[in-house]
Amino acid sequence: MPQVLNIAYTSKPVSRSGAIVIYVAENGVPDGLAEPIWARTGLDFKNVAGATGFAGKPGHMIDLVTPSGLDCDRLVVLGRGRNGDMSGETVWADRGGSLFAKLDSLGVDSAAVVIDEPGQSPDGVAALLAGLRLRQYSFDRYKTAEPANGKSTNLAVTVHLRSEDGMESALAQRMATVEGTLLARTLVNEPPNVLGPVEFSAHANLLSEFGIEVEILAPEDMEKLGMGALLAVAQGSERPARLVVMQWKGGAKEAAPLAFVGKGVVFDTGGISIKPALPMFDMKGDMGGAAAVTGLMKTLALRKAPINAVGIIGLVENMPDGKAYRPGDIVTAMSGKTIEIINTDAEGRLVLADALWYTQSRFKPSAIIDLATLTGAVTIALAHDHAAVFSNDDALADRLIRAGLASGEKCWRMPMSPAYAKLIESRFADMKNSGGRPAGSITAAQFLAHFIGDVPWAHIDIAGTAFGVPNTETNTSWGTGFGVALLDRLVRDHYENQG
Ligand code: BES
Ligand code: MN
Ligand code: ZN
Repeated sequence: MPQVLNIAYTSKPVSRSGAIVIYVAENGVPDGLAEPIWARTGLDFKNVAGATGFAGKPGHMIDLVTPSGLDCDRLVVLGRGRNGDMSGETVWADRGGSLFAKLDSLGVDSAAVVIDEPGQSPDGVAALLAGLRLRQYSFDRYKTAEPANGKSTNLAVTVHLRSEDGMESALAQRMATVEGTLLARTLVNEPPNVLGPVEFSAHANLLSEFGIEVEILAPEDMEKLGMGALLAVAQGSERPARLVVMQWKGGAKEAAPLAFVGKGVVFDTGGISIKPALPMFDMKGDMGGAAAVTGLMKTLALRKAPINAVGIIGLVENMPDGKAYRPGDIVTAMSGKTIEIINTDAEGRLVLADALWYTQSRFKPSAIIDLATLTGAVTIALAHDHAAVFSNDDALADRLIRAGLASGEKCWRMPMSPAYAKLIESRFADMKNSGGRPAGSITAAQFLAHFIGDVPWAHIDIAGTAFGVPNTETNTSWGTGFGVALLDRLVRDHYENQG
């Protein structure tokens, strides 16, 4: 895997390059800018395509090594499918991901990629370049062995276009999203001994370099605020909790911010209601919501988004201990409501209860969206292909679903109702923290709703999508960074008044 990836675009003609890549449509021949390049090989395209079984479908390839007439080691012809199949940006990103994999497997160190086809846009080309970078990402910080030999460690990709118009801003926007996604992936991939609440908060603090105002609350601060739910989860851990507030002020001074809240359980043993060994090792990823919020804040700052946004993450470790909270305990949240603990493994909602309440009372946001690896049940419902959305606002839910389709981070809405709220009524307190197995993701959302005032709110359960998903064209890493591209897209499409 190349360690360094340089990407560029130009409207200049192709010159010397390790590989030249052209795309050909299904049942087509090299056209546009690709046509004169192929012509220099002196070969008849139809004959070569026939001999190699190339029909122009995505995944089809012709690999001509040291072709005469061209100054390159190889000319790679890739299928681009039917014209018109490239309407969505996710398709372009996938093409970029699969291009990276091809170049990597061929051991190429520089590639000139010609892109000239109907339906192409700067956003599409930027998405392709983003896809290359997303596919290149690998988390190998803790591998001491040398990378596989014989392969290049640097890869420079230059996209050759008819025109550079619109590329600069499209690429800057897109790469800002990529940077946020990669930060979120890395935070999720880091092992829990390395990334505790304090270490995570230090990562968040680094965002001040990009113009984010960062505040970090310690347990004493949270005690003063009455955050009895969040602190109950933290009390069994040797590592103190943190609540991080990240503010991006890119909008009008008086404009209410959009708020993003993330569950940041750096490791979830289940506590006294301890988890079995098998699903436990995945629980280093139980801070995926907080990682996505942190990544999103980085993205918004990098692209100087013209909005006000606040990102709040509750960072705790859920451990069994002599000091740990227990089933049967009744704790009081910052809102004043009381919670009977049924299961100490239903801890994420306790962290969010206080983080959500704090966010609303301090910032009076125009909308609030939380992200959390909240329930195993969501994976039973939707596996790894959709996150579950719960909302008190139809317009917000619809926007999220559409942003999901556009970004490739798909969401599916789930119901909420008083009948489900009933399942978490408590005999002794205002509510209990678990309604058991039936509708486990929904009762978790109903619990959160107790801590939501009169504000458009959406809860996104990313337990199935934040980590451990099957490889895709744009991700072969365990952590996905799910939520960054989704929410960045939501912000861009609905909360930035670009006139
Ligand atoms: N962090 C887990 C949810 C989870 C499970 C995320 C698997 C990703 C993969 C959460 O804290 C949890 O343990 N939830 C319980 C809730 C139950 C005790 C009501 C669950 O889903 O079993
Ligand atoms: Mn848990
Ligand atoms: Zn958890």
